Amino acid sequence: MNEHLKDRYAVIGNPIKHSKSPDIHLLFADQTGEILSYEKILAEESQFTQVVEDFFNNGGKGLNVTVPFKNHAYNFVNELSDYAKNARAVNTIYRNNTGEFVGANTDGIGLLRDLKKTLRLQLLNKKILIVGAGGATQGIVEPLLNEKPSELLIANRTPSKAEIIAKQFKSFGNIDYCALNEIPKHHFDLVLHATSVGLEGNNVALPTEIIGPSSCCYDLLYSNQDTPFMEWAKRLRAKTVVDGFGMLLEQAAESFYLWRGKRPDTGMAYHYFRPDRVPKPSL
Ligand code: ATR
Repeated sequence: MNEHLKDRYAVIGNPIKHSKSPDIHLLFADQTGEILSYEKILAEESQFTQVVEDFFNNGGKGLNVTVPFKNHAYNFVNELSDYAKNARAVNTIYRNNTGEFVGANTDGIGLLRDLKKTLRLQLLNKKILIVGAGGATQGIVEPLLNEKPSELLIANRTPSKAEIIAKQFKSFGNIDYCALNEIPKHHFDLVLHATSVGLEGNNVALPTEIIGPSSCCYDLLYSNQDTPFMEWAKRLRAKTVVDGFGMLLEQAAESFYLWRGKRPDTGMAYHYFRPDRVPKPSL
Protein backbone atom coordinates (compact mmCIF):
# COMPACT_ATOMS: atom_id res chain seq x y z
CA MET A 1 0.00 0.00 0.00
CA ASN A 2 1.12 3.57 -0.71
CA GLU A 3 2.88 4.92 2.44
CA HIS A 4 0.68 8.05 2.34
CA LEU A 5 -2.49 5.98 2.79
CA LYS A 6 -1.28 4.19 5.93
CA ASP A 7 -2.08 5.34 9.46
CA ARG A 8 0.99 7.23 10.64
CA TYR A 9 2.75 6.61 13.95
CA ALA A 10 6.14 7.84 15.18
CA VAL A 11 8.52 8.21 18.09
CA ILE A 12 9.79 11.69 18.91
CA GLY A 13 12.98 12.36 20.88
CA ASN A 14 16.49 13.81 20.82
CA PRO A 15 18.64 11.85 20.10
CA ILE A 16 16.46 9.39 18.21
CA LYS A 17 18.77 7.70 15.70
CA HIS A 18 19.22 4.48 17.67
CA SER A 19 15.58 4.01 18.66
CA LYS A 20 14.29 0.47 18.13
CA SER A 21 10.63 1.55 18.36
CA PRO A 22 10.00 1.54 14.57
CA ASP A 23 11.26 -2.07 14.25
CA ILE A 24 9.17 -3.16 17.23
CA HIS A 25 5.93 -1.48 16.11
CA LEU A 26 6.29 -2.70 12.53
CA LEU A 27 6.71 -6.25 13.84
CA PHE A 28 3.59 -5.80 16.01
CA ALA A 29 1.69 -4.49 12.96
CA ASP A 30 2.76 -7.54 11.00
CA GLN A 31 1.69 -9.89 13.80
CA THR A 32 -1.74 -8.34 14.18
CA GLY A 33 -2.48 -7.59 10.53
CA GLU A 34 -2.64 -3.83 11.13
CA ILE A 35 -1.58 -1.54 8.29
CA LEU A 36 0.48 1.41 9.50
CA SER A 37 3.74 3.30 9.11
CA TYR A 38 6.08 4.21 11.97
CA GLU A 39 8.86 6.79 11.73
CA LYS A 40 11.46 8.51 13.93
CA ILE A 41 11.16 12.26 14.52
CA LEU A 42 14.14 14.27 15.76
CA ALA A 43 13.07 17.57 17.35
CA GLU A 44 14.67 20.46 19.21
CA GLU A 45 13.14 21.32 22.60
CA SER A 46 11.85 24.68 21.39
CA GLN A 47 9.99 23.01 18.49
CA PHE A 48 8.26 20.20 20.38
CA THR A 49 4.69 21.58 20.34
CA GLN A 50 4.88 22.67 16.71
CA VAL A 51 6.32 19.35 15.52
CA VAL A 52 3.66 17.35 17.39
CA GLU A 53 0.80 19.52 16.08
CA ASP A 54 2.14 19.26 12.52
CA PHE A 55 2.40 15.49 12.85
CA PHE A 56 -1.24 15.09 13.94
CA ASN A 57 -2.44 17.64 11.36
CA ASN A 58 -0.76 15.57 8.66
CA GLY A 59 -2.41 12.22 9.28
CA GLY A 60 -0.54 11.27 12.48
CA LYS A 61 -2.55 8.86 14.66
CA GLY A 62 -0.22 8.27 17.56
CA LEU A 63 3.16 9.24 18.99
CA ASN A 64 5.62 7.65 21.35
CA VAL A 65 7.63 10.19 23.30
CA THR A 66 11.12 9.59 24.60
CA VAL A 67 13.99 11.52 26.25
CA PRO A 68 13.92 14.51 26.76
CA PHE A 69 10.25 15.17 25.90
CA LYS A 70 8.12 13.12 28.32
CA ASN A 71 7.54 16.17 30.46
CA HIS A 72 6.83 18.42 27.48
CA ALA A 73 4.25 15.85 26.35
CA TYR A 74 2.69 15.87 29.83
CA ASN A 75 2.17 19.63 29.53
CA PHE A 76 1.00 19.40 25.92
CA VAL A 77 -1.93 16.96 26.15
CA ASN A 78 -5.52 17.84 27.15
CA GLU A 79 -6.24 14.61 29.07
CA LEU A 80 -4.05 12.28 31.12
CA SER A 81 -4.24 8.63 32.12
CA ASP A 82 -3.87 8.02 35.87
CA TYR A 83 -0.31 6.69 35.57
CA ALA A 84 0.72 9.68 33.41
CA LYS A 85 -0.91 12.13 35.82
CA ASN A 86 0.97 10.75 38.83
CA ALA A 87 4.25 10.27 36.96
CA ARG A 88 3.98 13.77 35.45
CA ALA A 89 5.35 12.21 32.28
CA VAL A 90 3.76 11.02 29.03
CA ASN A 91 5.27 8.46 26.63
CA THR A 92 2.19 7.85 24.43
CA ILE A 93 -0.05 10.42 22.71
CA TYR A 94 -3.22 9.86 20.67
CA ARG A 95 -6.48 11.66 20.01
CA ASN A 96 -9.83 10.71 21.54
CA ASN A 97 -13.17 10.70 19.65
CA THR A 98 -13.58 14.44 20.07
CA GLY A 99 -10.07 15.20 18.77
CA GLU A 100 -8.57 16.03 22.18
CA PHE A 101 -4.97 14.92 22.82
CA VAL A 102 -4.70 12.11 25.37
CA GLY A 103 -1.42 11.34 27.17
CA ALA A 104 -0.63 7.95 28.70
CA ASN A 105 2.43 6.51 30.38
CA THR A 106 3.08 2.85 29.57
CA ASP A 107 6.68 2.71 30.93
CA GLY A 108 5.72 1.40 34.38
CA ILE A 109 3.29 -1.18 32.97
CA GLY A 110 6.05 -2.26 30.57
CA LEU A 111 8.58 -2.72 33.37
CA LEU A 112 6.11 -4.64 35.53
CA ARG A 113 5.14 -6.99 32.68
CA ASP A 114 8.82 -7.69 32.02
CA LEU A 115 9.58 -8.32 35.70
CA LYS A 116 6.54 -10.51 36.32
CA LYS A 117 5.86 -12.22 33.01
CA THR A 118 9.34 -12.61 31.54
CA LEU A 119 11.54 -12.79 34.62
CA ARG A 120 8.85 -14.32 36.87
CA LEU A 121 9.71 -12.04 39.81
CA GLN A 122 7.34 -11.66 42.76
CA LEU A 123 7.62 -8.24 44.37
CA LEU A 124 5.29 -8.71 47.36
CA ASN A 125 7.25 -7.96 50.58
CA LYS A 126 10.50 -7.60 48.61
CA LYS A 127 13.15 -4.91 49.05
CA ILE A 128 13.55 -2.68 46.00
CA LEU A 129 16.25 -0.06 45.35
CA ILE A 130 16.03 2.43 42.49
CA VAL A 131 19.28 4.25 41.66
CA GLY A 132 18.46 7.59 40.05
CA ALA A 133 15.60 10.05 40.42
CA GLY A 134 15.01 11.43 36.94
CA GLY A 135 12.20 10.99 34.44
CA ALA A 136 12.71 7.23 34.17
CA THR A 137 12.20 6.75 37.91
CA GLN A 138 9.14 9.01 37.95
CA GLY A 139 7.40 6.66 35.50
CA ILE A 140 7.93 3.38 37.39
CA VAL A 141 7.33 4.18 41.07
CA GLU A 142 3.53 3.86 41.17
CA PRO A 143 3.25 0.45 39.47
CA LEU A 144 6.13 -0.86 41.62
CA LEU A 145 4.44 0.30 44.83
CA ASN A 146 1.19 -1.33 43.68
CA GLU A 147 3.01 -4.67 44.02
CA LYS A 148 3.37 -3.98 47.77
CA PRO A 149 7.12 -4.36 48.27
CA SER A 150 8.26 -4.16 51.92
CA GLU A 151 10.50 -1.23 50.96
CA LEU A 152 11.09 0.99 47.93
CA LEU A 153 14.20 3.14 48.36
CA ILE A 154 15.26 5.78 45.83
CA ALA A 155 18.95 6.73 45.98
CA ASN A 156 20.17 9.69 43.97
CA ARG A 157 23.25 11.88 43.57
CA THR A 158 21.00 14.85 44.35
CA PRO A 159 18.92 13.55 47.29
CA SER A 160 16.43 16.43 47.11
CA LYS A 161 15.18 15.09 43.76
CA ALA A 162 14.64 11.64 45.26
CA GLU A 163 12.90 13.29 48.20
CA ILE A 164 10.39 15.01 45.91
CA ILE A 165 9.45 11.68 44.28
CA ALA A 166 9.27 9.87 47.63
CA LYS A 167 6.93 12.54 49.03
CA GLN A 168 4.81 12.57 45.89
CA PHE A 169 4.14 8.81 46.05
CA LYS A 170 3.98 8.46 49.85
CA SER A 171 0.32 7.49 49.84
CA PHE A 172 0.96 4.55 47.47
CA GLY A 173 3.20 2.51 49.80
CA ASN A 174 6.42 2.26 51.81
CA ILE A 175 8.78 4.61 49.95
CA ASP A 176 11.94 6.36 51.16
CA TYR A 177 14.96 8.17 49.70
CA CYS A 178 18.66 8.72 50.40
CA ALA A 179 21.91 9.96 48.87
CA LEU A 180 24.06 7.49 46.90
CA ASN A 181 26.57 7.31 49.78
CA GLU A 182 23.81 6.60 52.31
CA ILE A 183 22.47 3.41 50.72
CA PRO A 184 22.10 0.83 53.53
CA LYS A 185 24.58 -2.03 53.20
CA HIS A 186 22.11 -4.90 53.01
CA HIS A 187 20.83 -7.07 50.16
CA PHE A 188 18.05 -5.81 47.93
CA ASP A 189 15.86 -8.27 46.03
CA LEU A 190 15.61 -5.92 43.06
CA VAL A 191 18.05 -3.14 42.11
CA LEU A 192 16.90 -0.92 39.25
CA HIS A 193 19.47 1.31 37.60
CA ALA A 194 17.71 4.44 36.33
CA THR A 195 20.45 7.06 35.91
CA SER A 196 21.76 8.29 32.58
CA VAL A 197 25.34 7.42 33.58
CA GLY A 198 25.86 4.18 31.60
CA LEU A 199 25.33 6.11 28.37
CA GLU A 200 28.92 7.36 28.60
CA GLY A 201 30.31 3.96 29.60
CA ASN A 202 30.67 4.87 33.29
CA ASN A 203 28.97 3.43 36.35
CA VAL A 204 27.59 4.97 39.54
CA ALA A 205 29.60 3.83 42.58
CA LEU A 206 27.33 1.56 44.65
CA PRO A 207 28.06 -0.52 47.77
CA THR A 208 28.73 -4.16 46.87
CA GLU A 209 26.75 -5.31 49.94
CA ILE A 210 23.44 -4.48 48.22
CA ILE A 211 23.83 -7.50 45.91
CA GLY A 212 23.01 -10.96 47.30
CA PRO A 213 22.75 -14.37 45.60
CA SER A 214 19.03 -13.87 44.94
CA SER A 215 19.20 -10.25 43.75
CA CYS A 216 17.83 -9.20 40.38
CA CYS A 217 19.69 -6.28 38.79
CA TYR A 218 17.80 -4.46 36.08
CA ASP A 219 19.24 -1.66 33.95
CA LEU A 220 16.52 0.52 32.44
CA LEU A 221 18.91 1.33 29.60
CA TYR A 222 18.87 -1.11 26.71
CA SER A 223 21.93 -2.22 24.86
CA ASN A 224 23.14 -5.15 22.79
CA GLN A 225 26.09 -5.53 25.11
CA ASP A 226 26.29 -5.46 28.90
CA THR A 227 26.05 -1.96 30.36
CA PRO A 228 28.60 -0.93 33.04
CA PHE A 229 25.91 -1.53 35.72
CA MET A 230 25.24 -5.02 34.34
CA GLU A 231 28.97 -5.84 34.27
CA TRP A 232 29.24 -4.73 37.89
CA ALA A 233 26.22 -6.83 38.94
CA LYS A 234 27.52 -9.90 37.10
CA ARG A 235 30.90 -9.58 38.81
CA LEU A 236 29.04 -9.68 42.14
CA ARG A 237 27.10 -12.78 40.99
CA ALA A 238 23.60 -11.35 41.19
CA LYS A 239 21.07 -14.07 40.30
CA THR A 240 19.51 -12.21 37.37
CA VAL A 241 21.10 -9.36 35.40
CA VAL A 242 19.25 -7.80 32.46
CA ASP A 243 18.99 -4.62 30.41
CA GLY A 244 15.77 -2.70 29.72
CA PHE A 245 14.90 -4.27 26.38
CA GLY A 246 11.97 -6.16 27.88
CA MET A 247 10.56 -2.96 29.33
CA LEU A 248 10.94 -1.27 25.94
CA LEU A 249 9.12 -4.12 24.23
CA GLU A 250 6.31 -4.29 26.78
CA GLN A 251 5.72 -0.52 26.93
CA ALA A 252 5.56 -0.53 23.13
CA ALA A 253 3.00 -3.35 23.22
CA GLU A 254 0.82 -1.38 25.64
CA SER A 255 1.05 1.76 23.44
CA PHE A 256 0.13 -0.36 20.41
CA TYR A 257 -2.90 -1.68 22.30
CA LEU A 258 -4.02 1.87 23.20
CA TRP A 259 -3.75 2.90 19.54
CA ARG A 260 -5.04 -0.18 17.73
CA GLY A 261 -7.03 -2.14 20.33
CA LYS A 262 -4.99 -5.28 19.61
CA ARG A 263 -2.41 -6.96 21.85
CA PRO A 264 0.81 -7.97 20.11
CA ASP A 265 2.59 -11.20 21.03
CA THR A 266 5.69 -9.94 22.85
CA GLY A 267 6.92 -13.51 23.47
CA MET A 268 7.35 -13.95 19.74
CA ALA A 269 9.01 -10.53 19.52
CA TYR A 270 11.69 -11.67 21.99
CA HIS A 271 12.53 -14.59 19.71
CA TYR A 272 12.88 -12.14 16.86
CA PHE A 273 14.92 -9.37 18.53
CA ARG A 274 16.58 -10.91 21.56
CA PRO A 275 16.68 -14.72 21.70
CA ASP A 276 18.75 -14.35 24.92
CA ARG A 277 15.70 -12.83 26.64
CA VAL A 278 12.98 -15.29 25.58
CA PRO A 279 10.51 -15.58 28.50
CA LYS A 280 10.89 -18.57 30.80
CA PRO A 281 8.06 -21.11 30.39
CA SER A 282 5.33 -21.03 33.05
CA LEU A 283 5.84 -23.40 35.95
P1 ATR B 1 16.01 10.23 32.65
O1 ATR B 1 14.78 10.85 32.08
O2 ATR B 1 16.72 9.26 31.72
O3 ATR B 1 15.77 9.61 33.99
P2 ATR B 1 17.14 12.60 33.80
O4 ATR B 1 15.78 13.04 34.18
O5 ATR B 1 18.07 13.60 33.23
O6 ATR B 1 17.07 11.42 32.76
O7 ATR B 1 17.81 11.91 35.08
C1 ATR B 1 19.12 11.46 35.03
C2 ATR B 1 19.44 10.70 36.33
O8 ATR B 1 20.79 10.26 36.25
C3 ATR B 1 19.33 11.55 37.59
O9 ATR B 1 18.97 10.72 38.66
C4 ATR B 1 20.78 12.06 37.74
O10 ATR B 1 21.15 12.42 39.05
P3 ATR B 1 20.90 13.93 39.55
O11 ATR B 1 19.44 14.03 39.87
O12 ATR B 1 21.77 14.07 40.74
O13 ATR B 1 21.30 14.84 38.40
C5 ATR B 1 21.52 10.79 37.37
N1 ATR B 1 22.90 11.10 36.98
C6 ATR B 1 23.33 11.69 35.85
N2 ATR B 1 24.69 11.78 35.85
C7 ATR B 1 25.12 11.22 37.01
C8 ATR B 1 26.40 10.97 37.60
N3 ATR B 1 27.53 11.32 36.97
N4 ATR B 1 26.44 10.35 38.81
C9 ATR B 1 25.31 9.97 39.44
N5 ATR B 1 24.07 10.16 38.94
C10 ATR B 1 23.97 10.78 37.74
